[in-house]
Amino acid sequence: MINKKIEDAINDQINAELHSAYIYLSMASWFDSMNLKGMSHWMNIQAKEEVEHAMKFADFVMERGGRVLYKAVAAPETEWASPLEAFRGAYEHEKYVTRRINDLMDLAVAEKDYASQVLLHWFISEQVEEEANASEIVGKLEMMADGKHGLLMIDRELGGREDD
Ligand code: FEO
Repeated sequence: MINKKIEDAINDQINAELHSAYIYLSMASWFDSMNLKGMSHWMNIQAKEEVEHAMKFADFVMERGGRVLYKAVAAPETEWASPLEAFRGAYEHEKYVTRRINDLMDLAVAEKDYASQVLLHWFISEQVEEEANASEIVGKLEMMADGKHGLLMIDRELGGREDD
């Protein structure tokens, strides 16, 4: 049986993961409106991953006899100053999610909840990848310094992202 503090904290994290999905869907829509179809595709896949993260937490709560309570998902931003600013936003958001996952691990340790710690190990590794992916794209966009040709090349590359 899951303890109430952990159940509440994971329910909050489910909301945060769905909010992440919303942010990336909004970025996908914005990139599409800019005719950057590859970046839009990348963000749509990212959003799908966030829904999978939410479901992974939800399955865990239910498996342990807890109750998943879905809360309102805050509206995301809808405009960014440039593709670079959007990806910087994604990177900053992933760093925020990492802090949240670390806080959840602190709670699981304090509560001696070993099953949650095992689940959170997976998320800690996942966050290393999530931050690295966003940071790499930010780095590439910074390197091209407003060159349109470079932007199209990166767009094409991101359009090749496959579902995991
Ligand atoms: Fe679910 Fe991108 O962290």
